[in-house]
Amino acid sequence: MNLPLALFSVLTLISVCEAYSIGFPHLQARRTVWQGTRFTKGLPIVGQANQRTQIVGQANQRPSQSFFQRFRSTKQDFLPKPTGRDEILINYFDELYSCPITIGTPGQEFNVAFDTRSSMTWVPSIHAPPRYRRMHKYKRYNNESSITYTTNNKNFDVIDDSNRITGHFSRDSLKIADVTIKKQSFGETLLETNMFRGTTNDGILGLGLSKLDGEEELSVLDNMVSQGLVPAPVFSVYLNRYGSGGPESVLTLGGTNPYYCEEEFTFVDLTVPHRWQFNIDRVQLSSGGGIFCESGCQAMVDSRSSFIAGPTEETRALNQQLGGKWFKGPQGLSNYKFDCSEVDDLPDVEFIVNGKKLSLSSRDYTAEMELYGETICVSRILSMGWRESGEPDWILGLNFMRAYYTQFDKGNRRIGFAKARSFPKI
Ligand SMILES: *[C@@H]1O[C@H](CO)[C@@H](O)[C@H](O)[C@H]1NC(C)=O
Repeated sequence: MNLPLALFSVLTLISVCEAYSIGFPHLQARRTVWQGTRFTKGLPIVGQANQRTQIVGQANQRPSQSFFQRFRSTKQDFLPKPTGRDEILINYFDELYSCPITIGTPGQEFNVAFDTRSSMTWVPSIHAPPRYRRMHKYKRYNNESSITYTTNNKNFDVIDDSNRITGHFSRDSLKIADVTIKKQSFGETLLETNMFRGTTNDGILGLGLSKLDGEEELSVLDNMVSQGLVPAPVFSVYLNRYGSGGPESVLTLGGTNPYYCEEEFTFVDLTVPHRWQFNIDRVQLSSGGGIFCESGCQAMVDSRSSFIAGPTEETRALNQQLGGKWFKGPQGLSNYKFDCSEVDDLPDVEFIVNGKKLSLSSRDYTAEMELYGETICVSRILSMGWRESGEPDWILGLNFMRAYYTQFDKGNRRIGFAKARSFPKI
């Protein structure tokens, strides 16, 4: 399916900027909006806004039981049972996956982006200054209408990527995957610079390993374990493709759901304490072409990045060896492209992890888009641009995670990959 150009342009825009340091790609989406053939800053023009609202409405719908049931019924008997608790993730144009939660009693509903970087969960606050409340139509948490709210007297003011987030911590019941965590600490943000404008997402579900300075509260996952709601500090993620007609994306908290993968996990140990980072042995093409990251390099699985990013020289060489042609589109829309009729013939890109080959097919590492009425296939392996020393060489974002069911095992400090199950089209 074709991504709307407005959305797509943004993804590509970041490739040109600093893919890694920018954070959630859709953040940029809201700032750069396509008008005719130009990109301008500002709000969508009315026609587009309406269109998007419609699509967003669909994207935001929870699947009906019967939809889900269709797939459930095909489940083979020999599969082991899931070991955790499943929660559906809502796929926003393959750019962002959000998880429905409620906070408070009675529950106030939010959609929060699952984030493998930070461990902090936050939602916008009703106490935000009026001008922010007007500007961004997020759902906002109201402590006054929850009987389980307690104060936590701590403030935060952080730059999260390029976004400033300011607010205070609170405690309340948080319901996720049909269980209620008591006294969960979370951030109420008073200011968040445009993070999710225009999306159906309100805040963040922190599943990462990094903590804010001085932040000692337990994360959602840690609390689930300590309150006996799930067996282990593990979560696993199945991500579907937008518009594929397959089952919904699923976050399994506390374990894995083998229904979503086709093989055993390959595990690799984490190499740093504060990131889902690990060593890859090498990156190569199945055609026997180029070998990259020759003497090993560091990679990180990152739900904030919708694409795959690597060192500039290497990703350039890789795209060229695949036969990609560089094109300059309207503002920032520059990338390697392939002829869509030839995409199926392209070799796989293989990441060798702990001796095991994790292959991405061309359908995994390209995306179709329309440009000036022409359908082109663009690369989703982009240059990372600038990065700080000590940061990983490769970022394996959502494009990678859609191909590999990923298990994040905090208890054993390791990460596991198993080929995601493919579902027949219905
Ligand atoms: C709700 O939060 C505001 C802002 O932190 C605080 O001033 C107020 O006292 C809180 N309400 C209750 C009932 O605690």
